[in-house]
Amino acid sequence: MSFKTDLAASIRSIPDYPKPGIIFRDITTLLGDAVAFRQAVDELVKPYVGQGVEKIAGIEARGFILGGALAHQLSAGFVPIRKKGKLPHETVRMAYTLEYGTDEMEMHVDALRPGEKVILTDDLIATGGTAEGAVKLLRQLGAEIVSACFVIDLPDLGGRRKLEALGVEVRTLVAFEGH
Ligand code: PRP
Ligand code: MG
Repeated sequence: MSFKTDLAASIRSIPDYPKPGIIFRDITTLLGDAVAFRQAVDELVKPYVGQGVEKIAGIEARGFILGGALAHQLSAGFVPIRKKGKLPHETVRMAYTLEYGTDEMEMHVDALRPGEKVILTDDLIATGGTAEGAVKLLRQLGAEIVSACFVIDLPDLGGRRKLEALGVEVRTLVAFEGH
């Protein structure tokens, strides 16, 4: 018999952070819980076993934590999508939309070979602006995006629909209604 922990309950919710009216979904409590972290990784990995995934692309910063674990479990490589100015070699850069304004993310130009099968991952999808930028960047490098996966979905903010409109399959483990 196997027992499952409640992943949603392992995520800490902090009201009025970073500003009034916003509930911050803090994944550090899930990551710090050995049972919950293992279960989250196992559940994320499951649909991709045997799919020939070659690379996991993780979005800085919290996507690195999950991405490393997924890459290990799937015997895939890991490639970072970083905030601009952090990567030492030649990069490709993409602007993306934040709640207020825009920023830019980068990958090494040789992080992927064209046609490589890639899974994109991050801790959370909200408006989807960050993940949309990552999808564009990966496609610019010629990646075949198999899927995008996140522990947390905030469905009211529409990120999943944004990625699906780009033709990307989205998988998530826990949804929180509201912001
Ligand atoms: C958070 C979260 C996602 C992104 C989701 O990261 O970790 O990466 O926002 O938001 P979106 O779907 O509306 O684009 P944040 O920008 O706070 O950076 P961090 O992971 O480096 O802390
Ligand atoms: Mg982030």
